[in-house]
Amino acid sequence: MRIIKTKDYDELSCRAADIIAAQVLLKPDCVLGLATGSSPVGTYKELIKKYKTGALDFSKVKSVNLDEYVGLAPDHEQSYAYFMYENLFAHINIDLTNTNVPSGIAPDAAAECARYDALIASYGRIDLQLLGLGSNGHIGFNEPSDQFPTGTHQVALTDSTIQANKRFFKQESAVPRHARTMGIRDIMQAKRVLMVVSGTSKAETVRTAFAGPVTPSVPASVLQLHSNFTLVADEAALSLLLNL
Ligand code: F6R
Repeated sequence: MRIIKTKDYDELSCRAADIIAAQVLLKPDCVLGLATGSSPVGTYKELIKKYKTGALDFSKVKSVNLDEYVGLAPDHEQSYAYFMYENLFAHINIDLTNTNVPSGIAPDAAAECARYDALIASYGRIDLQLLGLGSNGHIGFNEPSDQFPTGTHQVALTDSTIQANKRFFKQESAVPRHARTMGIRDIMQAKRVLMVVSGTSKAETVRTAFAGPVTPSVPASVLQLHSNFTLVADEAALSLLLNL
């Protein structure tokens, strides 16, 4: 595992965007695994800047997102499909038919999860998977558990995730209680994994995930086993990791 320590969130966003840009330049038809939430917003802004200078071409890129809330249609403003359109896809020349987010409204959860896994498999391996880190150690919506879930599945969100994500909704009761998420196998099969983490509120989770044992009770800890994992984090997020 490689750790890139930055001064602050802005520098973190630039460093992460540089890595994704290099991936797109090296392989213009690459498959990007993408994340939502607050952490990657700055990274997406930096990628948009690079695109606007003419330095990047996304026309052949394919993308698969990690997750979606159950019950939210793609045009719901808190859906992850909407987030991706607003924060990235609307501003670059990616072909929208090559972008994918699990459906939160397909009625048959098992069928939708199987469809999403088959779609990922049809793309071959994800070239670069971008991740944020949940305060409870989740990646995607793979919540703490007694085993690592493998493929795409529907999950009941834990109370800590509902509490963490209620800031995006008008009221806590509006936060969906379930989500569909890529599994740990899907994430671990990516050729490269890049995680962005910022702020003191994540420092204890970073320490537990990357200086503690590999355990499904801290899903991100499995990334210690990935052969090409880069953590880009600011000083605040790394403040409880020793010897840096
Ligand atoms: C988002 C996702 C989540 C978030 C995590 C951190 O697609 O899969 O795992 O990355 O909840 O969220 P933020 O960045 O908002 O702290």
